[in-house]
Amino acid sequence: MTPVTRKPCVAGNWKMNLTLGQASDLASAVVKSGPDIGGAEVVLIPPFTSLPRVKGVLEGGPVRLGGQNCHWEDKGAYTGEISPLMLKEAGCRYVLIGHSERRQYFGETDATVNKKIRAALQHDLLPIFCMGETLAEREQGQTEIRIIGQLDGGLEGLTDDEFSQIVMAYEPVWAIGTGRTASPGQAEEVQALIRDRLSKKYGKEISSYAIILYGGSVKPDNAFSLYQEKNIDGFLVGGASLEAGSFITIIKEAIKADRIKQ
Ligand code: PGA
Repeated sequence: MTPVTRKPCVAGNWKMNLTLGQASDLASAVVKSGPDIGGAEVVLIPPFTSLPRVKGVLEGGPVRLGGQNCHWEDKGAYTGEISPLMLKEAGCRYVLIGHSERRQYFGETDATVNKKIRAALQHDLLPIFCMGETLAEREQGQTEIRIIGQLDGGLEGLTDDEFSQIVMAYEPVWAIGTGRTASPGQAEEVQALIRDRLSKKYGKEISSYAIILYGGSVKPDNAFSLYQEKNIDGFLVGGASLEAGSFITIIKEAIKADRIKQ
């Protein structure tokens, strides 16, 4: 497996949105902005049914394709599920695992997240492993305990080599789709906590290369200040990734801030 590239990473999670035609138009617009966004690892994460169409648009270029979820088995009697093998065959390089909406609405636990991460790695898919606290947990001072629990649970038993293929994503649940972004300081506090925990688990060097995304109401006007924080290496974008202009601006802002940070 090749290690995750160390450059700003911006992933657009389209969730359950866009028709085939809209998906293909959006992907085409992102591809067309190619020279402007070449300094970043850009990932488009459409609904499963749009994967072949978007794959066709991305073919041969640097923009990557990702799936929104996967099961831990290769195949079997799991109605409504999709396997990592299928995502790989559909052209995915990445897969989102443990998004808070999966945890909240579809009963995913740290144990299933761990199984999914292992399955994805077996098929050479790079997991984007999501974690985040709810508003109630934050208000009760439980943020640290929650994040460390999710991190340890999801990464349970993974070797250094396996870990080096994983992209981490901190997404405070209270900031997702609410327009209420974490301030750069609030985000950095948790991003730093994550890196520190990774350092304890895998050592300083490996953790210093880990890509830790921030997600939760990332918009063109807050991307630059968020990215300036030391431990923010990119973004997982929901709402603002559904429109080419705002998504491309976020990527450009990350590239700009990355140059200053170097
Ligand atoms: P948002 O979603 O940007 O719409 O807040 C982020 C996510 O859920 O990944």
